[in-house]
Amino acid sequence: SKANVGGGNPRDFIAKMKEGKKRIVIFYGSQTGTAEEYAIRLAKEAKQKFGLASLVCDPEEYDFENLDQVPEDSCVFFVMATYGEGEPTDNAVTLCQNLSDDSFEFSNGEHKLSDLKYVVFGLGNKTYEHYNLISRNVDADLTKMGAVRIGQRGEGDDDKSMEEDYLEWKDGMWEEFSRVMGVEEGSGGDSPDFVVTEVADHPPEKVYLGELSARALTRSKGIHDAKNPYPAPITVARELFADGADRNCIHVELNTENSGITYQHGDHVGVWPSNSEVEVERLLCTLGLHDKKDAVIQIESLDPALAKVPFPVPTTYVTVLRHYIDISAVAGRQILGVLSKFAPTPEAEAFMKNLNSNKEEYNNVVTHGCLKLAEVLQLAAQNDISVLPTPENTAAWKIPFDIIVSSIPRLQPRYYSISSSPKLHPHSIHVTCVVLKYESVKNERVDIRWVFGTGSNFLLNLKYAANGETVPLVETKEEPARVLAPHYAIEGPRGAYKQETVFKVPIHVRRSTFRLPTNPKSPVIMIGPGTGVAPFRGFVQERVAMARRTIEKNGPEGLADWGSIRLYFGSRTSIQDFLYKDEWAEYGQELHGKFTLRCAFSREVYKPDGSKIYVQDLLWEDRETVADAILNGKGYVYICGDARSMSKAVEETLCRILGEAKGGSAEVEGVAELKLLKERSRFLTDVWS
Ligand code: 2AM
Repeated sequence: SKANVGGGNPRDFIAKMKEGKKRIVIFYGSQTGTAEEYAIRLAKEAKQKFGLASLVCDPEEYDFENLDQVPEDSCVFFVMATYGEGEPTDNAVTLCQNLSDDSFEFSNGEHKLSDLKYVVFGLGNKTYEHYNLISRNVDADLTKMGAVRIGQRGEGDDDKSMEEDYLEWKDGMWEEFSRVMGVEEGSGGDSPDFVVTEVADHPPEKVYLGELSARALTRSKGIHDAKNPYPAPITVARELFADGADRNCIHVELNTENSGITYQHGDHVGVWPSNSEVEVERLLCTLGLHDKKDAVIQIESLDPALAKVPFPVPTTYVTVLRHYIDISAVAGRQILGVLSKFAPTPEAEAFMKNLNSNKEEYNNVVTHGCLKLAEVLQLAAQNDISVLPTPENTAAWKIPFDIIVSSIPRLQPRYYSISSSPKLHPHSIHVTCVVLKYESVKNERVDIRWVFGTGSNFLLNLKYAANGETVPLVETKEEPARVLAPHYAIEGPRGAYKQETVFKVPIHVRRSTFRLPTNPKSPVIMIGPGTGVAPFRGFVQERVAMARRTIEKNGPEGLADWGSIRLYFGSRTSIQDFLYKDEWAEYGQELHGKFTLRCAFSREVYKPDGSKIYVQDLLWEDRETVADAILNGKGYVYICGDARSMSKAVEETLCRILGEAKGGSAEVEGVAELKLLKERSRFLTDVWS
């Protein structure tokens, strides 16, 4: 690499821009890769529209004191995700601190950024309280220092409409950009990001077949993290629900012995899934690659600063589709436009162009119909997606593979709250996961189909595989579609999945701040209906382990001054979906009366007016105990589970309880008290939508 000729400072982004003759630098604050993808898309668009090259940067790798030295003909983009409770992503912590720190000096010796031109796009989630806080802060900080924003600040909502928000924002921004920067559209061109070449005679042991990091093949030692996941053997895999076909909830135990992986109660485990085989087959056929799916390919980036090859290479066509890129997501509107020109017939091309430009039609057919990319391609060319494509019955699209690589994002890990405690299970991570499954909406082009979530379906498949059962290729209401585990994650006789085969799940651990107070005297209130109970199983186990040690030393009296821990759980009935039903009483015994489980069985017992009983109703029933624990006992409150309605309803109830206890109202005293709890980190949430 000639990145650092002349011995310049590698953390100086302006030097790098000048060296590469780049007028745009794009910083991304990204935790799971989405903001990075949007940063890369913006870079590509700048190239296509104006012929301008960009430097796409992880802010962690650069310094910012020369932010005031950005040349006048250049522009800085910030693509910033807001993470958790209004926090910056890990890689953007320093950047955000520098921008908001009044004592941080730029190289001009001042706290000024006059003449700096910038663009902001934020990624957030409306179900969380601090929607897009980070991008708003960055924008406000820059404006305060005299920098000038180009166009509007863009804001995308990950809960509903990220893609649409982005598409709606970008055109206006580019128009402004063109005016302010004095550049004209049409001066760019469609240049590819990658070159894909088929290579003959490559040593098979050097071909990546699903490994998630380059380190995996060289077998070099290293820590296991998001960049180098660990294939953890499954030791236990069972179903937790008794109601069989209708819903699945699975419990998986992953062995981390000798991996160097450690975890704490409340942490998350990232699971790296694979795509279902039926979609892999469908895309292979529509791309005309079925016959050479196992051909070894090398992929090189034409501009590594703009686009790195997103997965290890050399690899094979089928591996890319099966393990590396996200072909299971609902197809985005923009990519349909990009691919339209490769259609096998004029009708298919027109169909794609219409979906790309007609938002209503796109929403009807693609969004509500939950169509994946290969399904849209099949629908466009063949009208009917109920027939499984084969090389014989499929007209292939002439899409260059480099376009597939650059326009379909990398398959990302799915995060689950760990449901065990390392104190009881030091070498085992437990996952409790509801299998996401829903029906698509019928439209005039496509019938209703069953859609399975990628991460949970992968785990369900591994559960079947670990138990020696097979799964059909195509999904039905009762059964998911087949997913193949990466070959390196299967140990034992090759070929058919057999009982003696060990199946592994590629994982890494993500630290969280969702933790019990260290002092067992503090009372604890945990609210976790459904799979929201997962981390609390870990919490209770944590306390059980602590109780064992205390009792060993001081007998059960050792627990006398412990605070009580109360778990509010909810499920439909006490039989069907009561998670870990048999375990709670045992934990209770070991905790000698310090553990209370309260259950809201929403479809079993009803209120006098016939409405359902939920966890928040039980909290309200227990309001005296709850208020006492929080206000007098300096207790801690935790919520885990659904962010859309449950956690909001529980927060409202807590406000009512605290407001009443303070002799005031929910809206004033209650809200103030809850705010105080949050500030003191005594109210913590782990919620998802
Ligand atoms: P339901 O499905 O009968 O409506 C776990 O999913 C439990 O959470 C179920 O008992 C479910 O009840 C319940 N639940 C659904 N919506 C909820 C809400 N808004 N607040 C609290 N619990 C809810």
